Amino acid sequence: MMDKLIPVVVIKDINETEKIMNALKNNGINCAEITFRTSCAAEAIALASKKFPEMNIGAGTVINGEQCLKALEAGATFIVSPGLSEEVAAICAQRNIPYYPGCVTPTEIMKALSLGLTTLKFFPANIYGGLKGLKALAAPFPQVKFIPTGGVNRDNLDEFLACDKVAAVGGTFFVEEALNK
Ligand code: 3PG
Repeated sequence: MMDKLIPVVVIKDINETEKIMNALKNNGINCAEITFRTSCAAEAIALASKKFPEMNIGAGTVINGEQCLKALEAGATFIVSPGLSEEVAAICAQRNIPYYPGCVTPTEIMKALSLGLTTLKFFPANIYGGLKGLKALAAPFPQVKFIPTGGVNRDNLDEFLACDKVAAVGGTFFVEEALNK
């Protein structure tokens, strides 16, 4: 079963990796999506995977095949994209790695389904109608579960988690909370 809480982690300095991962772990979180928004992402994934083998460490903001290969080489156990990349989908399918592409329209969801993908990121969730938007989009696709991300926070987290169309929720706020404890 996948983790229900997925912290979106942005590591600006490789030396911060352990501190962030420890904070998440101490806050009861067993998973991290380390994003390719910073140049040390692959290095951070490799370091976190080595130091925290009990945690589920994936890669986020993966927008092409090259980044996907780097992430997998570093030890990422799942891949997340803000949108849908067929190149990334093909690599993940071949290696049996879960891939969660961002989809916010029926056409995008149909494309994902044609690639065999049924757990999809819903991003930016707050801009695309929040829980109401997610439910409306889910109605014609009973086989799909979503990972709302973008604008998820402590105030709306429980509402999202209570929805049976929600597989997990993602957000940077998990990291902020853990570091501020
Ligand atoms: C992501 O890539 O998933 C988002 O940037 C996270 O959005 P948030 O900062 O609103 O949680």
